[in-house]
Amino acid sequence: MELGLWIVIGGGIVGVFVLVVLAVCIVSKKRIQSSPPPKKDAFKDDPFEESGCPKISIKEVYLASNNLSQSNFIGEGTAGKVYKGILSTNQHVAIKHIINDGNVETFAREVTSLSHIRHPNLVTLLGYCVNEDECFLVYELCPNGNLSEWLFGKDRNLPWIQRLEIAIDSARGLSFLHTYPEGCIVHRDIKPTNILLGKNFEAKLSDFGLSKIIELGETYVSSEVRGTFGYVDPNYRSNNHVNSTGDVYSFGIVLLQILSGKKVVNMNLNTPMPLSKMAKGLNRSGGINDFADPKLEGEYSAEAFDLTLQLALSCTALKQQRPSMEQIVATLQEAHDMSTEAKASTPEVSTDTSIQY
Ligand SMILES: Nc1ncnc2c1ncn2[C@@H]1O[C@H](COP(=O)(O)OP(=O)(O)OP(=O)(O)O)[C@@H](O)[C@H]1O
Ligand SMILES: [Mg+2]
Repeated sequence: MELGLWIVIGGGIVGVFVLVVLAVCIVSKKRIQSSPPPKKDAFKDDPFEESGCPKISIKEVYLASNNLSQSNFIGEGTAGKVYKGILSTNQHVAIKHIINDGNVETFAREVTSLSHIRHPNLVTLLGYCVNEDECFLVYELCPNGNLSEWLFGKDRNLPWIQRLEIAIDSARGLSFLHTYPEGCIVHRDIKPTNILLGKNFEAKLSDFGLSKIIELGETYVSSEVRGTFGYVDPNYRSNNHVNSTGDVYSFGIVLLQILSGKKVVNMNLNTPMPLSKMAKGLNRSGGINDFADPKLEGEYSAEAFDLTLQLALSCTALKQQRPSMEQIVATLQEAHDMSTEAKASTPEVSTDTSIQY
C-alpha cells in the first residue's frame, strides 16, 4: 500500500517536471519567432577590415568628441554630422558620423578608396569605426573650415593671392588623383564645401565617396549621375560617362566662384543665369571689373585675373577643349607669379584710388 502511494507521488512529480520543461520550450520558441529579424546591412561583420585602414574603437570616438557633443559639432552633409575631436594621441580630428540608412555603400567606397592615398592637398583619412548600426570616419582636422564658408561667409574674406594659392593647392590635389599610377581617380564631387582649409590655409580636397578608379584615358559608364547641382559637367549629365574632364569642368566652376564670389546660379535676375553662362557673355562684352568679387575691393592684378578667367572658361568649354589638371596648375602658377611681382612693385601706402596687384 505504502509502495503504491510513493509510485503515485513520484509519477506526479515527474509529470509536473515534464509539463514545466514543455511550457518553457514553447514560450522560448515563441520569443525567438517574435524577435525582429536582424537589421539589413547592420555592421555586424566588419566589411572594411580588408581596406587596410586603421580601426578606431567606439570608446575612443566618443571620448575624442566629448560624446558627440553639440559644442564639437562642425557641420552636416548628406551622409551625416561632422564633429571635431582630439584622439588619445593628441591628434586633432574631424569625425564624420554616418547613420546606417543606406549610405553604407558610399561609406565603404570612401574608406577603401581613401585609406591608402596620401598627398598634402588631400584630406587624410586616419581611421574608421564600425559599431552595429552606426559608423564613423575619422579625418585629419582642417581648422579653417571649407572654401564655401570663406567665399560666401558674411564676415570672411580671402585676399587675391590667397585665393590663387587655394586654387593651386586644389588643382595639385586633383592632378595627383588624375595621374594616380594605378589608374586615374575621378573625384566626381569637386565643389567649395569639399575644399577644406588647413592651419595655414593650405587647401585639401575631401570626400572621395563618389570617386571611381578608371584606367587612364578610358571612360566608365556610371549607373547613376552623381555630384552636386551646378558643378556637374553637362556632358556627363547627358551620357553618364565618367572621366577626368568632368572634374575639370567642376574645377572651372569653382575657379569662377573664386574670382567672382558668386553662387553657381544668379537668382537675382529675372531669369536665373548660370555662372558659366554669365562668365562667357562677359568675355565677349568685357566688364571684368563687374564680375570680380566686390570683397576683393579691386585689389588684384588685372592681368592675372584675366588669365585665370580665361582658364576657368576653358575648363567649362567643350570636353575636347578642356586643359588637363597639370596644365591648370602651370597656368595658375603663372597667374600667381604675375600677382606677386605686381604686388612687389606696388607701394604699400593706401590711396583713394584702388591699388591693383
Ligand atoms: N576634415 C575636416 N576638417 C574640418 N571640417 C570638416 C572636415 N570634413 C568635413 N568638414 C566639415 O563638415 C561639414 C559637412 O561635411 P560633409 O562632407 O559631410 O558635407 P558637405 O561636403 O558639406 O555636403 P555634401 O554631403 O552635400 O557633399 C562641412 O562644413 C565641412 O566643411
Ligand atoms: Mg564634403
